[in-house]
Amino acid sequence: MKFFIDTANLDEIAEARDMGILDGVTTNPSLMAKEGISGHENILAHYQAICDLVDDKVSAEVIATDFEGIIKEGQELSALSPKIVVKVPMIRDGVKAIKWFSDNNIRTNCTLIFSAGQALLAAKAGATYISPFIGRLDDISADGLQLIAQLIAIFDNYDFQTEILAASIRHPMHLISCAEVGAHVATCPLNVFQSLLKHPLTDIGLEKFLADHQKANG
Ligand code: G3P
Repeated sequence: MKFFIDTANLDEIAEARDMGILDGVTTNPSLMAKEGISGHENILAHYQAICDLVDDKVSAEVIATDFEGIIKEGQELSALSPKIVVKVPMIRDGVKAIKWFSDNNIRTNCTLIFSAGQALLAAKAGATYISPFIGRLDDISADGLQLIAQLIAIFDNYDFQTEILAASIRHPMHLISCAEVGAHVATCPLNVFQSLLKHPLTDIGLEKFLADHQKANG
């Protein structure tokens, strides 16, 4: 399972990278705005700064919603670095653009996936990743994890190269459950990765090991 960090915060990206567990980064316009990044040139510079921190797979989202606009923006983002994956929304022109990017060897991440039908369309168009948002489905009393399991079952029937990138992960059990059903990638905020570290028996055990060492060694 690949771990991506879902943030545009450079310190958090560096922290996850330094833990040695990071395979990529996902961002979106809300996450960029949260970091106070605005203006075309600043946005491009920030994506470049993210690319400078990690080895590969930085999802950068287009703002355009028409085919020509998505292609233009996607080309510009992709020209920043070979690490860029162009993030495209699940809309009609988005699907058309994913096919164009796929034909032109530009990797894509189709975002805002909430149904199996949407996932199939994106995969057929050649998306590198599809991003089902499990937390937002849970928010409306649907079952986000059930969608991930359904997509794994569907994709297992065929030879799609598209990877299922579980997104909108809010807590460690979301992540563990995605791993249980076989999501290829999970993208999470830093605190979800950090929460995986914690177990009270680890803390108690380490305290005892260190105390026993201290007793024996003075
Ligand atoms: O990767 C998508 C993610 O950023 C959305 O998360 O918590 O806003 O639903 P959330």
